Amino acid sequence: MSHADDHQGTRRDFLYYATAGAGAVATGAAVWPLINQMNPSADVQALASIRVDVSGVSEGSQLTVLWQGKPVFVRYRSPDEIEEGRAVDVDSLPDPIAWNENINEGAPATDENRTLDEEGKWLVQMGVCTHLGCVPLGEEGDFGGWFCPCHGSHYDTAGRIRKGPAPRNLPIPVASFVDEETIQLG
Ligand code: FES
Repeated sequence: MSHADDHQGTRRDFLYYATAGAGAVATGAAVWPLINQMNPSADVQALASIRVDVSGVSEGSQLTVLWQGKPVFVRYRSPDEIEEGRAVDVDSLPDPIAWNENINEGAPATDENRTLDEEGKWLVQMGVCTHLGCVPLGEEGDFGGWFCPCHGSHYDTAGRIRKGPAPRNLPIPVASFVDEETIQLG
């Protein structure tokens, strides 16, 4: 394939995606008035919980899903991440609270209190920096967890703030296992 053909192909792809994008916007615009006329509580309830298929998430990686308009990180932690998270003394943390909606309010931010399962393999948390709301980057930062590039907040492998301006650990939403391959949010 010549360079010119190659370029043409790229252009076609671009047009295809642009058209697809316009279609999606048109659909959204058409559907919105219907949703808007519904009882607001029914609208909210429809989005209140979602089920996430985690069968394709491999150890040491994460899936980001959009829920109620916000990103949620669903991470399958590696043994090293679990070990690092559990080795931390809660008293040394800037924010000692777990912020986990699935357990008692005010519970300490131990690694065990932050994860979804007892072994600590699954960590489900909102992907919104507690400073000013940017989306942190995974497997980045000084503590092997997440890093928010907006103003330099470092979170550890349990999503706890360790360094930078963010005041709180990443919050953990209501979440549970439906079966081995499915996590429900909300
Ligand atoms: S928004 Fe994340 S550090 Fe400011």
